[in-house]
Amino acid sequence: MLIALGGCALSSDKHPQTTFQPVTGFGRIIDSLFHGVFWWTMLVLVVVLVVLGYILIRFRERPDSPEPKPVYGNTILEITWTVIPSLIIVAILIPTIRGIFATQKAAPKDALVVEVVGHQWWWEFKYPSLGVTTASQLVLPVGRPLDLRLHSADVIHSFWIPRLGGKRDVNPVRQMPNGEKPPHLNHISLTIDSVGDYPGQCAEFCGTEHGAMRMMAIAVPPAEFEAWVQRMKAGQDSAALLAPQDSLALRGKRKFLSSACIACHSISGTTAMGQIGPNLTALGDRWSIGAGVLDNTPGNVAHWILDAPEIKSGIIMPGAKVKGTGGMPPTGLSESDARAVAAYLSSLSAGVAPTHKTGWAIETTVTH
Ligand code: CUA
Repeated sequence: MLIALGGCALSSDKHPQTTFQPVTGFGRIIDSLFHGVFWWTMLVLVVVLVVLGYILIRFRERPDSPEPKPVYGNTILEITWTVIPSLIIVAILIPTIRGIFATQKAAPKDALVVEVVGHQWWWEFKYPSLGVTTASQLVLPVGRPLDLRLHSADVIHSFWIPRLGGKRDVNPVRQMPNGEKPPHLNHISLTIDSVGDYPGQCAEFCGTEHGAMRMMAIAVPPAEFEAWVQRMKAGQDSAALLAPQDSLALRGKRKFLSSACIACHSISGTTAMGQIGPNLTALGDRWSIGAGVLDNTPGNVAHWILDAPEIKSGIIMPGAKVKGTGGMPPTGLSESDARAVAAYLSSLSAGVAPTHKTGWAIETTVTH
């Protein structure tokens, strides 16, 4: 019970993944359904305990009590205990079915489409109408209908940002033989009504690093969202994105763009256009690296570049001396190269970052 009491802390400051402070209609439908079911359950519990307590005391055995009279069946009692639970089930069923339809409804035509792609083990976010792609952290405008279209590049994942609403399966897309229709893909239609940072994570076991498949949604006013989109599209080499100022970052930029990094990673506005790994545009704004493994600091980025497969097991990304899963060869970057590339990546910004950029990740620093 003491452990269960830990769930009673509702504050979203201390518990940012609370489900009790939804910021969308989608989340509120589920929240009110939960409360309805909870209070019906409490009513049944109290009635049963009160009646049970009364019977235990009133009919307890006494020294002079006679043998109880055997009773076989009681029609009125049996009808009562069938009808009352049936009525309670109907009272729960009606809002449940309404909730299912409401949370499955198609998004309005003018909704902003965001493609959510699950990978082992990170999240990719594409805005097809805007030509923007990002990873692990998505920026969303408040007050505008959103159409999140969920699919996976490999196994089944589950998209869950608790304050935005319930979790939903992210199913793989497979080329179907004979031109069959592809399997059903899920979507979520919602509108966020409060500015804030909303962390979430994969909620379906998807392999060894399932626990390190986290994400962060940052909801901003529409004008700020537009500005973010413009900076993301303009890319690193335009004036809109902060260009690296110091020589270490400039050296890192040259190193990054002339190394194997660009076979897997993209940075908007540069020659890096790889599609295998996470898009690194505006990496400096992100709340973590490795999809929640480490706080996003230049030191940690350098560690990650040198040792990624040792920090997060089973990933495709190789280290400086270690192969990645799938046989990607070691990058061979020296420690000083890694620090320069980290300085470059950390300098990339599109102007929207979480209020608390560190402190969300599993580790604050590499411990081994
Ligand atoms: Cu993806 Cu668990």
